[in-house]
Amino acid sequence: MSNRPLNVGLVGGGKGAFIVNPHQKAIHFDGTRRVVAGALFPDPKIALEEAANWPYPIRGYGSYDEMIAANKSLPDAEKLDYILIVTPNFVHFDPAMKAMKAGIAVICEKPLCLNLREANELVKTARKLNVPFGVAHTYLGHWTSRFSRYVVQSGLLGEVRWVDSYYLQGWLATKLEATGQQQATWRVDPKRAGGSGCGGDIGTHALMQLRYVTGLDVTEVSAQMETFVEGRQLDDHFTIYCKLSNGGKALVRASQICIGSKNDLGIVVAGTKGTLRWRQEEPESITICLPNQPDRVYWRGAVTGGDGFLPKELPADLMAEPTIPAGHPEAFHDAFARLHRGFEADVRKWKAGEKFNCDGGKYANVEDGWKGIAFIETCMESHKKNGTWTALPVEI
Ligand SMILES: NC(=O)c1ccc[n+]([C@@H]2O[C@H](COP(=O)([O-])OP(=O)(O)OC[C@H]3O[C@@H](n4cnc5c(N)ncnc54)[C@H](O)[C@@H]3O)[C@@H](O)[C@H]2O)c1
Repeated sequence: MSNRPLNVGLVGGGKGAFIVNPHQKAIHFDGTRRVVAGALFPDPKIALEEAANWPYPIRGYGSYDEMIAANKSLPDAEKLDYILIVTPNFVHFDPAMKAMKAGIAVICEKPLCLNLREANELVKTARKLNVPFGVAHTYLGHWTSRFSRYVVQSGLLGEVRWVDSYYLQGWLATKLEATGQQQATWRVDPKRAGGSGCGGDIGTHALMQLRYVTGLDVTEVSAQMETFVEGRQLDDHFTIYCKLSNGGKALVRASQICIGSKNDLGIVVAGTKGTLRWRQEEPESITICLPNQPDRVYWRGAVTGGDGFLPKELPADLMAEPTIPAGHPEAFHDAFARLHRGFEADVRKWKAGEKFNCDGGKYANVEDGWKGIAFIETCMESHKKNGTWTALPVEI
């Protein structure tokens, strides 16, 4: 494939949409990817108007069906290399399947889809057609998440005994959906969000952070899924005690009724030799606590090996990643850009007919998305049985 920027098509993103904004900035971050097309809204007329009013020229389509169908007859230089799905959860499965079948790679927002039946289909199709498929678990893209993964998985903290992975918010502490607020209304509707509200929306991020940093899987859950706001159909508070694949234990918890908490995603990993702490609201550093020593704070861009805790040689690709010096803050948009950058590398290999990774190291893949859905469905089952320990399905 030529050196031209990758062409990205948006599914969703018109009329006051939220997450399309950081994504589209991240797509343009390096100059090697660009948004060229969009099916931005369910109503075709509005979709075309929204595309015409996009801040830079893009091809507008009345629907994602049209956008995907039109791709076949475009000249190579204009064909879509991947689509980004930023619609509510009930509009993930269909465009993702159609894009893969049309030979277009996919980055889909989390949670992957509505249920395990859809998730199974997506995994099988991505494998059968050998198409790159990413799931937008934003927080893996922080350099400090990658560093945390290295610290834990290289055994520097010993064996993992306990993990507390959490995502606390307060924006749904009142019945915001009753005001018609766009992002709230579909998130509390089981038909559009799936079987769990808070768990599906942000509990899946907490689970993914745990799995990414530790490399461990959740094998069994004892779940409590509560609804504090009267009249709301789905959980707004999600507390899951977990058994881990190495015999350790974890709490994966999420809440949307914690007034004062904004996007408080964080992780504490307690190993036999020490503990790691990280919070995405202050994503530039991690803290390592070792017994009987002052805590060590490692800042992105200022990490050097051979300091008495880290080995002298640190992984080359991890150390090559930061792009700006420590103290010039990186945050949410940089994390998104890292996901798109990793995905771009795989798409370029795929287009060149080479083997691509898609191994979950640089961004969550379709199997990670499947595990998120399997986790949610198992939590729902456990919760119905009053928190009885319930095993997750084995990987497909
Ligand atoms: N990774 C993250 O950090 C993160 C953060 C927020 C949201 N999300 C996920 O992103 C997705 C979107 O969330 P949001 O908060 O941006 O929602 P939103 O309501 O702000 O935006 C959804 C957009 O999809 C459009 N849409 C709906 N049906 C469509 C269709 N059939 N065709 C074309 N467009 C359609 C809507 O018109 C709107 O533009 C959800 O799956 C959500 O879970 C992820």
